[in-house]
Amino acid sequence: MKIAVIGGAGYIGSHTVRELLDRGHEVKVFDNLSSGLEQNLFKDAGFVKGDILHPEEIEAFLQEFKPEGLVHLAAFKAAGESMTNPEKYSVNNITGSLNILNAATAAGVKYFVFSSSAATYGAPQYMPVDEKHPTEPENYYGYTKLAIEGFLKWYDKLRGIKFAALRYFNAAGYDVKGRITGLEKNPANLIPVVMEALTGRRKELLVFGNDYDTPDGTGVRDYIHVNDLAIGHAKAFEYLQQKNESLIVNLGVQRGTSVLDIVKAAEKASGKKVPYRIVERRPGDPASLVADPSKAFELLGWKAQYSDIDTIIKTTWKAYLSNGIV
Ligand code: WQD
Repeated sequence: MKIAVIGGAGYIGSHTVRELLDRGHEVKVFDNLSSGLEQNLFKDAGFVKGDILHPEEIEAFLQEFKPEGLVHLAAFKAAGESMTNPEKYSVNNITGSLNILNAATAAGVKYFVFSSSAATYGAPQYMPVDEKHPTEPENYYGYTKLAIEGFLKWYDKLRGIKFAALRYFNAAGYDVKGRITGLEKNPANLIPVVMEALTGRRKELLVFGNDYDTPDGTGVRDYIHVNDLAIGHAKAFEYLQQKNESLIVNLGVQRGTSVLDIVKAAEKASGKKVPYRIVERRPGDPASLVADPSKAFELLGWKAQYSDIDTIIKTTWKAYLSNGIV
C-alpha cells in the first residue's frame, strides 16, 4: 500500500516508517522537523519537509503522492504543557489534524491511522482500562486526542474514510535492531529522564511521589515497546483493508511497572547508579494506569513481543550509548 506518514521523523513515527517499509509498503514522510530528526529518516522512504499548519503544503503533498493509507503522528504530547499553553495544542493538534483530514479526503485517502492516547480516558475508574472505559481526559492534551477521534467518526460517516485510533499507553524503548537512534529533544517522560540522569546530562531524576497506593508507593504505568506500537500500525492497516470498518483500540501490555522498577532495570542495564530524589506528586498523575489490550488481540491479532522491561531499557540505553554521550 502507498502510505503517507505525517510526523514520520519523530520517535514513534520513525519506528512506524521502518516497520511499514519492512512489510513492503511504499512510504513517504511529511514532517516539519520541529521535533522530528533528519537522523530518523530512511533512504528507502520519500521525505517532504512541510507543515500541517500550512494547508496548501499538506494538500500538495497528498495530491502528488496519492496514498491509499495515512498515519498521523504529528502532534505535541506534553500533558503538563497543554494545561498552561492550551492554545498551542489547539492550533497544532486540532487545527493541524483538521488540515490533514481535509487534505486526506480531497486526495482520496481511504485508511487513516491516528496516534491517539490513553490520556483520552482520564483518571482510571477501574483497571485494566478497556475501550469501554469513560473518556474524561484530565488534561487538555488528552482532550485534543479525543476531539480528533470525534472528527474522524464524523468524516467516516460523511466522507467514508475508515480510521483506526490507536490509544497508546506509555511508549518506550528503541528499535531492537538498532536502526533508529535519534534521541528526543527535551524529554519529559520517565525513561529518557532516567537515561539523562545516568549519563550526567541531568543532575538527578525527580521521583514524583512515593506515597501512592501501589506496591512500592511510586507511580505504575503500562510501558509498551515502540517496535510493538509500530507493528500495531501495520496491523491496523491490514484490518482496515480487510474489514473496511473503523476502530478504536488500546495498545498496551497489561503489566504495571513502577518508577523504582524502571530505576532498578536501568541500573542493571548500565552498571551505574541512577541519582534520584523523591519529591511531591505531579498534579494530574494517576497512581496506576494499565491497559486491557484484549481488543487489539481479538481484532488485529496484535500482541506485544518486545515489551519486557529489560528489552525496553536495554534498547534505550544502547541508543544513548550510540550517540556517544555516555
Ligand atoms: C511515568 C511515571 C510519573 C518523569 C504521559 C502522557 C501520556 C502519554 C505518555 C502520550 C509517572 C513518573 C516521570 C519524572 C517521575 N503520552 N515520573 N519523574 O505521565 O504516564 O504519561 O506520557 O500519549 O499522555 O501524559 O508518562 O513518562 O511522564 O511518567 O517520577 O521525571 O513516571 O509520575 O508515574 P505519563 P511519564
